[in-house]
Amino acid sequence: MCGIIAVTGQGATVEVLTSGLKRLEYRGYDSAGIVVCDENGLFSRLRVAQGKNSLDRLDSDAKESEFGSIISGIGHTRWATHGGPTLFNAHPHIDCNGTISVVHNGIVENFRELKDDLISRGHIFSSETDTEVIAHLLEESLISKGSLVEAVSSIAPIMRGAMSFVAISSTEPGVLVGFKRMAPMVIGRASNTWFIASDIPAILDRAEVFYHLEDDHLVCVTGGGAEIFNLEGDSVDLVEFPVTWSLESAEKSGFDDFMSKEILEQPGALRDTLAGRLASSGELILDETTSDPDSLARINKVFIVACGTSYHAGMVAKYAIEHWTKVPVELDISSEFRYRDPVVDERTLVVAVSQSGETLDTLAALHEAKNLGAQTLAVCNVVGSSMARLADTVMYTRAGPEVGVAATKTHTAQIGALLLLALNLARTKGQLYPSEIDALYEELTLVPAKIQEVLNSWDAIGEVAKRFSGSSRFYFIGRHVGYPVALEGALKLKEISYLPAEGYPAGELKHGPIAMLDEMAVVVAIATRTRLYEKIVSNIEEVRARNSSVIIIGNPGDEGQANLGESFISVPRVHPLFAPLVDVVPLQIFAYHMARNLGMDVDRPRNLAKTVTVE
Ligand code: F6R
Repeated sequence: MCGIIAVTGQGATVEVLTSGLKRLEYRGYDSAGIVVCDENGLFSRLRVAQGKNSLDRLDSDAKESEFGSIISGIGHTRWATHGGPTLFNAHPHIDCNGTISVVHNGIVENFRELKDDLISRGHIFSSETDTEVIAHLLEESLISKGSLVEAVSSIAPIMRGAMSFVAISSTEPGVLVGFKRMAPMVIGRASNTWFIASDIPAILDRAEVFYHLEDDHLVCVTGGGAEIFNLEGDSVDLVEFPVTWSLESAEKSGFDDFMSKEILEQPGALRDTLAGRLASSGELILDETTSDPDSLARINKVFIVACGTSYHAGMVAKYAIEHWTKVPVELDISSEFRYRDPVVDERTLVVAVSQSGETLDTLAALHEAKNLGAQTLAVCNVVGSSMARLADTVMYTRAGPEVGVAATKTHTAQIGALLLLALNLARTKGQLYPSEIDALYEELTLVPAKIQEVLNSWDAIGEVAKRFSGSSRFYFIGRHVGYPVALEGALKLKEISYLPAEGYPAGELKHGPIAMLDEMAVVVAIATRTRLYEKIVSNIEEVRARNSSVIIIGNPGDEGQANLGESFISVPRVHPLFAPLVDVVPLQIFAYHMARNLGMDVDRPRNLAKTVTVE
């Protein structure tokens, strides 16, 4: 949440900032702003608070403004936490003297006490944000420390919480100082131009080389180079990392929106995630590992931690891992894991599943798992993300950048990666013969083509959505692996159309939710030929007996069931444990059409941000 971009050096322009912010729009769009600095240290600030139009407005205001020749600048797009989405609260913030300007992502948890102290020392605040505290702290510290980098270094330890920020000072034109603690930040360079950004897409079209910044490190950047320091003031090496994402993958490329593009990219995303991942020995090829190769053999429990859509992918993995490996799997919402007393030890593998690799709740759960001595694995989509760097072992989903706030292609890629993990554990535990693993892997690699078949029904699913566009209550039901699919279908629908939608294990209906069924309710039943097919058919009968409308997701040959429901969406039949990869796709398309029919902005649903870096 909140996107940051900063630039200094030869190529520093206002356009670098505004176009970079456009690429960060998925991180929040409550308001936006920039501050640019000329070589005499003179700041110019432009801010807008136009909600979803913030970035377009910032761009057009910037084009009409006269900034002269600039040497550096910082920009921000906001997802409001402390203080409403007003102009006063829009970043960048500036101290009392107009010497320091700051853009910030995350939360300064102890900002209230810091602010009270600053006010008692005469500071006057012009916003309700926690961020402004940073500018005022730097104002004081700069006087005693003399340089911006030392000022940042001295205030970082007194601020609590997960955050990243970039500061500039009119006393040192051309210098940017960035600080990172459990919130994303990358550094980029293109000859004599340097960048700091909260995400790669912001600078994907500009930077030629990318560098990591670790937690509790700060970076001081000028057009001439970058230096990284820890909080003790020791210099730290710049570590480069490869970025293979193409520019096109981060653009709409002629599509109406990112969500439709990303849904349609799923066959490729899954194919790339699976490709070349299983060695002929049946061994899983991980992307990065520091753990000893035999450690997986000692695992006697798996714990999966994730949030939202990633959690639903983790649920699918639980069914597969327990079925193939007989190793027990616990699953936890990340924000719950760290605040209970999870029973985890060195024989537990904790798997953090996260598209961004930055979600604070999951990152904190991963920290907790490491503290408890567990072996850790991160499944994420962003190379070099915080979770990827923290975990012992990393398996990247190779879905390419996902910009639409509602996760689609990263979800199916996560399921693919987790199924491979399950197969690998089965090999390690001697629960499946190598030939069985080979056969399953072969079958899995055929699934992208099956997803393509579902995508070919895009318009037909649109017709189903049209038929139900006047409905106002949806219940998604499934059994076994159909249950996480039902949860994901409901989540997709509610987050982009704002229609009430709930997901249930179909067997639970009769224990309460069935009371809500009437002729106004629409039930979406995942009734493909998985393990409990006959039972879900009985559940659909129960629904019909309450006169609710039913949309069935079923396999070819079962169209006869259509008389059970108003609509039948056919999806190809695959191995029962692979079914979520196929069955979830019509639900994404259904949610997309429902939201579009209601005139919603599918890429930028209200109140949401793509990467949630606050607790
Ligand atoms: C829903 C969605 C969210 C994310 C959740 C975790 O479409 O995208 O529920 O899945 O915020 O995000 P990551 O996967 O980045 O940890």
